[in-house]
Amino acid sequence: MAVKVLVLHGINLNMFGKRDPVQYGTTTLAEINDHLATLGAELGVEVETFQSNCEGSLCERIHRAHGAPVDAVLINAGAWTHYSYGIRDALAILHCPIVELHMSNVHAREPFRHQSVFADVVIGQIAGFGADSYALALRAAVQHVRARSD
Ligand code: DQA
Repeated sequence: MAVKVLVLHGINLNMFGKRDPVQYGTTTLAEINDHLATLGAELGVEVETFQSNCEGSLCERIHRAHGAPVDAVLINAGAWTHYSYGIRDALAILHCPIVELHMSNVHAREPFRHQSVFADVVIGQIAGFGADSYALALRAAVQHVRARSD
């Protein structure tokens, strides 16, 4: 069965391409999703993307990934990363590997961005590579899943 990866985009990420190009470049979320679909096809995995500005909707999408399991989750939760225990607890319900990612290098920015409340429920974090952070995260997740199933 094909490996399935769920990519979760959180609050304000639908504004990529328009918001703060110094931190986030000019690539839109639609372009990021297209690129993930192309890379997924190259790697032989199915990629589903989901974005919401509503914390409850993101939690509910995570809950559905418990009932209809996926092999891995990538998450860029935006600012929720730094304070949402609700999303952290939803992620902790899942049994699959989760990779946290950020476009910007959050550790080189304001102190409130240095903390991730997801840190202990993810297998790793990727930050600072712009839109490439997504491709790196997808490659890392797929490699991790395949290494576990060998
Ligand atoms: C971000 C970093 C967060 O601190 C910020 O709130 C975002 C985007 C990133 O991709 O660099 O919305 O997650």
